[in-house]
Order: sequence, then C-alpha cells, then structure tokens
Amino acid sequence: MTKAKILVFAGSARRDSLNKKLARVAERHAREAGGEVTFVDLEEFPMPLYHGDLEASSGMPANAVKLRAIFLEHDALIIASPENNTSVTALLKNTLDWLSRSIGDGKGERSGLAPYRGKLAGILSASPGPFGGARGLPHLRQILSSLGVTVLGAQVSIVRAGDAFAPDGALKDEREDRLVAMLARAVVDTASKLREAPDPPRIMQDH
Ligand SMILES: Cc1cc2nc3c(=O)[nH]c(=O)nc-3n(C[C@H](O)[C@H](O)[C@H](O)COP(=O)(O)O)c2cc1C
Repeated sequence: MTKAKILVFAGSARRDSLNKKLARVAERHAREAGGEVTFVDLEEFPMPLYHGDLEASSGMPANAVKLRAIFLEHDALIIASPENNTSVTALLKNTLDWLSRSIGDGKGERSGLAPYRGKLAGILSASPGPFGGARGLPHLRQILSSLGVTVLGAQVSIVRAGDAFAPDGALKDEREDRLVAMLARAVVDTASKLREAPDPPRIMQDH
C-alpha cells in the first residue's frame, strides 16, 4: 500500500499556540502510523482578509497560491482548530476561503474545490476552557464537508489545555495522547485505502 500524504496544521498562528502543540502531537502519531506527513504553520502563510475587490484587482495572494499547491499534493488533512466565540478562528476561515477560490479558467486542478474535493480530514481542538474548543468543531466540520472533504466522525478536544502539555510538547495525559493517536491512525489508514480506490467518487459540483 502506498503511503498516504497527510497535511497537518493548526488554526492559530500564535507562537505558543496550544493548537500548534496539539497538531505537533498528531503529526508525530500520523508519522508513526505510516503516513507521509507535512506540518505547516499558518504564521508562514500570512494572507490579507478576503475581499472581492482585492481578488479582482490582484488575484489570489502569493501565499494562498503556495498553500493551495501544498493542499493539492496531500490526501488528507489533520487540523487542530482553536475556538473563538464557539466557532473557528478568523485565520482558519480566511485561509480556507482564499484556497476555495478558482484560479484561471477554474477547471480541473484550478477549480476552487480542487484543494479539498475527495480529501479526508481529522479534526481536533485545544482550549484552556472546560469544553476544549469542542463547540467550534461542528462549524469546521460543516465548512470542510461543504467543500467536499470527508471528515471522520471521531474528533478530539483537549480541555484545560493550558496545563495539558509537558515542556517537550507531549500530552501529559496518556488517555488524551491515545485518543490523538487513534484519530491520526484512522486518518492515515483511511486515506491510504482511499488512495488505492480505482476511481474516487466525485459527487461535488464546482461552486
Ligand atoms: C476572540 C476570542 C474568542 C475566544 N472564544 C473562545 C471560546 O468560545 N471558547 C474557548 O474555549 N476559548 C475561547 N477563546 C480562548 C482561546 O481558546 C485560547 O486563547 C486559545 O489558547 C487559542 O488557541 P491557541 O492557543 O492555539 O492560539 C477565545 C479567545 C479569543 C481571542
């Protein structure tokens, strides 16, 4: 079986982001599960807030073009998503929005859905609060699903995450670490099987 390519990132650009730490834990587990894993930090892909006039005058920002190309190279996403006012961060939504824009004639790989359609995703969250960011994940699930991503039913939220990570970045709680490992393995295993499928289903229309 060929190795599935997994792209891992967090919906936060903050240097000490809890969700980047969680994404790093998932990255390690996805690699241990046999995935070919890439971690990207959205801090390295700053983009302006989406604005139709800006797009009309300047097209897609260079960092969106770069990140879009990285998405296209991968079979699956693992996203650690902070919760802002019970939804996803503006950073994550803005990034997903820019990447969903068509380029050129909008056909095939230039379609706005191309970075997403047929991909698989595992979603997680971490928050210092008592819900661990779990209330934002249904929003992320809906956004990704509407873009043609199949989001695994299982998800993981780390509550009281300010105290959850050891200095080396590992999750202190073995049970939480096991849940992240199970999710990462499910993404790798399922994405590997989908890679083998002769003709992946194409049920999404371009928008
Ligand atoms: C505008 C704003 C809204 C927030 N809303 C929530 C919330 O609804 N639920 C929650 O658990 N934490 C909320 N937080 C706290 C974040 O979860 C916390 O800052 C978290 O550490 C951010 O993720 P990061 O560490 O990955 O950067 C909010 C923070 C900000 C700045």
